Amino acid sequence: MLRTHTCGELRREHAGVQVRLAGWLQHRRDFGGVLFIVLRDRYGEVQVTFRPENKELFDLAYTLRGQDVIGVFGTVVMRPPDAINPRMATGEIEVVAEELKIFSRSDVPPFPVEDEITAMEDTRLKYRYLDLRRPVMQKNFIVRHRAAMATREFLNGENFLEIETPYLVRSTPEGARDFLVPSRNFSGKFYALPQSPQLYKQLFMVAGMDRYFSLARCFRDEDLRADRQPEFTQIDIEMSFVEQDDVIDLAERLTAHIMFKVVGYSLKLPLPRMSYDEAMRRFGTDKPDTRIPFEIIDITDIVDGCGFGVFENAAKNGVVRVLPVPDIADKVSRKKIDQLTKLAQEWGAKGLATAKISENGFEGGISKFWTDDFKEKFCEKLGDKFFPNTILLFGADKPDIVSKVLGGMRTMLADEFDIINRSEHSALFVVDFPLFEPDEDSERGITPSHHPFTMPVEDDIPLLDENPLAVRANAYDLVLDGYEIAGGSIRIHKPELQRKIFNLLGISDDEAQKKFGFLLEAFRYGVPPHGGIAYGFDRLVMILAGRKSIRDVIAFPKTTAGQSLMDGAPSEVDAEQLRELGIKIDIQNTDDK
Ligand code: AMO
Ligand code: AMP
Repeated sequence: MLRTHTCGELRREHAGVQVRLAGWLQHRRDFGGVLFIVLRDRYGEVQVTFRPENKELFDLAYTLRGQDVIGVFGTVVMRPPDAINPRMATGEIEVVAEELKIFSRSDVPPFPVEDEITAMEDTRLKYRYLDLRRPVMQKNFIVRHRAAMATREFLNGENFLEIETPYLVRSTPEGARDFLVPSRNFSGKFYALPQSPQLYKQLFMVAGMDRYFSLARCFRDEDLRADRQPEFTQIDIEMSFVEQDDVIDLAERLTAHIMFKVVGYSLKLPLPRMSYDEAMRRFGTDKPDTRIPFEIIDITDIVDGCGFGVFENAAKNGVVRVLPVPDIADKVSRKKIDQLTKLAQEWGAKGLATAKISENGFEGGISKFWTDDFKEKFCEKLGDKFFPNTILLFGADKPDIVSKVLGGMRTMLADEFDIINRSEHSALFVVDFPLFEPDEDSERGITPSHHPFTMPVEDDIPLLDENPLAVRANAYDLVLDGYEIAGGSIRIHKPELQRKIFNLLGISDDEAQKKFGFLLEAFRYGVPPHGGIAYGFDRLVMILAGRKSIRDVIAFPKTTAGQSLMDGAPSEVDAEQLRELGIKIDIQNTDDK
């Protein structure tokens, strides 16, 4: 037997017990002829003592270095009162070694294997196995495991079947770019890695599975960010004979279950629901973080005759809105305002008008242009947000630009000045999304906001032809702490409507048949009304673990350039492999080389 106990479990009641421990050497300290080492495994740390009386053992222990893997046989003893370490769970005892076995030696690691390190992320990713050995990282994966277990436990209790979907699928347009896998048997043909199991889970509903879930890997070749990876995991869910309320109710209870089981947080249900329009107007984003205690206020209706031409002009075919940021006017310098203005311009605005509220009322910036009448009306609009030491940021433009700028400023400044209640979670559903969004690159100028299988809101179906951008979708997003952690919709289950949507998107019947023929065919054999939702599992775990990047909760993530620094993927392959696939590399003709 290599071990009888783990390193974290020994306590005072084990005093006198003989134990076998195994783990990594974390520290060693030579203390007046006695050698102390700290041995560590996933469960914790324990001090092991080597006394000089047993010279052979002592000399062997003396050769140990950090991260060597060893086994120790010894006796648990109480530490003398002055040697008790209250910061260590095992700090009341130590193990006096009688035997030592060195399983393997470690080179000097490229960074210390401990929680607080200054190593660059690239180094951490290259030596990911050492990075993952650090207790902070191990905690993230314990959170991840518990979230997965809580998911399975809850959905099993709700009659869901966990069914796997294929990873080698037909390439179908779903929003992002596909990763392709060449076929050897069918030279010149390709599989795609699925962007999500969307079509397969809908086919499960046609197959009568009624309630499906899986923890599915999804692959999307898109630009990466802190909350985006090329391969990520979804809690993917589909249900038959449901309406929007049924899916939202299920998702709320699932989210509450996971949060309670994993971090003991009690989510208050039902969650608030907010329309997409309201979210954009008040928070400038479709993923509002409601823990930030200030929001955008529309003042378009009061700027006529206000004295500031930019506002008066913008109000004619756009909007004027203000973001009042409390308690920071004294901390925001001229230089900072210039920086913010530059940023606003990068985000598409023509400028960023500002003013302050001081003890004397409106002050500075563009307030010098305002009429008294406007000041009075504006003060009324601000209501209890009219507060000294507030900085006012204005956007005057088309609504989408104003939303982008003021919404972006809101989250950025809340983060920078720490005006955010981090002891709470903010959870809400955003509903009534537009079915389509404008897209200059597409043939008809529109693209699905979610995906082309989303059911339009029943009442809006007549608008499909004359004003498709005004059609609302039967779709919903779950937003947690300002992150979109899940999205879903009720699906189209009538082939005629599905064909119509394809046509609106510029996909002809022929093309639809070619790309989605298998779905349309299946829809001829009895389709239940159905809908579902998918969680970005990595994002959910990131929030529960209190991290800011999903890379911290993915064991072997890619860099923002899509590389795996540890194994060196993507890599070249043998000429023979390419020959078998009938592939010739033509680097000059690819976009990025
Ligand atoms: P959607 O594309 O909204 O919906 O994806 C669902 C959720 O997955 C997460 N997510 C990501 N996480 C990490 N890296 C990425 N690159 C990434 N892209 C998306 C988000 C998002 O909310 N088939 C539909 C779901 C459905 O309709 O049921 C779908 O995939 O948290
Ligand atoms: P100007 O009249 O161009 O000197 O602008 C006066 C102030 O209004 C400057 O602080 C500009 O950054 C700001 N500004 C100009 N255009 C806009 C706009 N469309 N929205 C918000 N602020 C603007």
